[in-house]
Amino acid sequence: MIEVGQISGSLRKRLIITLIGGGAVLAVLIYLIVRTYATQIAQQGQDSILGASVTSILDAANLRKGDIEIDFPYASFSMLKTASDDRIFYAIYQDDKFLSGYERLAKMNPKTGTGSTFGNTIFKGANVRLASASRTLVGEGLRTELSITVAQTRDSLNGTLNRIGQNVALFGAGFFLLVIILAFWATSAAIAPLARLTSSITRRGPHDLSPVISPVPREMAPLVFSLNKLMGRLDQSLTRSEDFIAEAAHRVRTPLATVRSYAEAMLQRVEKEENRRAMRSMIRAVDESSRAAGQLLDHAMITFRVDNLDRRTVNLSELVTDLVIRLTPIAEMRDVQIKLEAGEAIQVSADVILIQNAIRNLIDNALKYAPQESVVDIVIVANPRPEISIKDEGTGFPNEEMHILANRFERGSNSESITGSGLGLTIAQDVAEAHGGRLSLSNQVKGGACVTFSF
Ligand SMILES: Nc1ncnc2c1ncn2[C@@H]1O[C@H](COP(=O)(O)OP(=O)(O)OP(=O)(O)O)[C@@H](O)[C@H]1O
Ligand SMILES: [Mg+2]
Repeated sequence: MIEVGQISGSLRKRLIITLIGGGAVLAVLIYLIVRTYATQIAQQGQDSILGASVTSILDAANLRKGDIEIDFPYASFSMLKTASDDRIFYAIYQDDKFLSGYERLAKMNPKTGTGSTFGNTIFKGANVRLASASRTLVGEGLRTELSITVAQTRDSLNGTLNRIGQNVALFGAGFFLLVIILAFWATSAAIAPLARLTSSITRRGPHDLSPVISPVPREMAPLVFSLNKLMGRLDQSLTRSEDFIAEAAHRVRTPLATVRSYAEAMLQRVEKEENRRAMRSMIRAVDESSRAAGQLLDHAMITFRVDNLDRRTVNLSELVTDLVIRLTPIAEMRDVQIKLEAGEAIQVSADVILIQNAIRNLIDNALKYAPQESVVDIVIVANPRPEISIKDEGTGFPNEEMHILANRFERGSNSESITGSGLGLTIAQDVAEAHGGRLSLSNQVKGGACVTFSF
């Protein structure tokens, strides 16, 4: 089981939450700003009409025989007409003395000649906006101050503001929805290169330690750089240990061959049965060791080559025929007959050295584990996919061990008296997998093992 370090949150979630949170704050800000601005503009509109109304009434005032006379112009109130029929109130003061209109309307004491003063109050249970202005009237030895206040309820203004508010809220909600969609899209786009890198590494074969070369965004470059460096180091140390094994196996093999030839020579000269038995055990142990060294050497070579397959078009029938010819002397020693059944030329793209090594190990097994004077059948088929099957007339694979026999150094319970190191099937399986195929073991119904190497 591969361990994953502690997981702290999700990049995707963090990005989405940040973007949506930012969008929400922006939407609320837009709503508040537009609403405040709209209120200001609407208020300015009402104020300028109220101001014009007050001024038109002031302009219509005259002093006649010491009394103030005002002939209300028609426009002074009609200009205040609104769709919601807002109510209008007014109050007229002469030098702080109430003259006409609604006395309770707040008095604002505007300064003369400074234009209109505006304010808000509650009058007769309604919110009203007030505008006040004054004018000094001079005539017939009299100087008097005339102040006029005009007020209007705010129903129409509030209606307009509510409508604007609703529209702005709708706009804000639309904006927020857009931000949510954009957040998901942007997050997927930002995460995509990471997902691509992950899948390109996951898809790799177990031996592929080559550096990642597909382009990645700048922010991911340090990660990929470190990953490539790590894989480089790993590759180097693997190669070094394979080299070491090959070198060690090679160094052991030569002296072993010498020991064996001396032991053989000795065996000829020794007469005592007890000593002869000891010599034979010694020769057998030497055989085991040199077989193991040879297989280790091959295995190291294969591990190295599967990373850099030297693929060529290979004629399978030719390759196997060649192997059979080379193995015939060994088969003859055991009186085993090898029968080859191959159709016309079956071409595959493969690494010849590796295929030869794998199939040699399989035929070698058939010769080793089959009884004397038996037949080994080799069948090559092209369809549905190229396949080489090797069948013998031995006892077959021990059933309960079948699933582990292709593991490294794994030998079956039927191999006690037979020289071997437990690497032959491992080699064949590694080679099959490196070519995108597989190795399958089974027993024939009539007895005997059947190994199929498929591409
Ligand atoms: N044709 C066969 N019939 C019966 N058993 C077999 C056959 N081929 C392999 N086996 C079993 O599978 C085991 C593993 O085979 P493998 O070729 O990997 O190792 P080996 O033959 O013991 O050693 P070596 O590395 O020298 O080939 C053998 O020890 C044997 O028990
Ligand atoms: Mg073997």
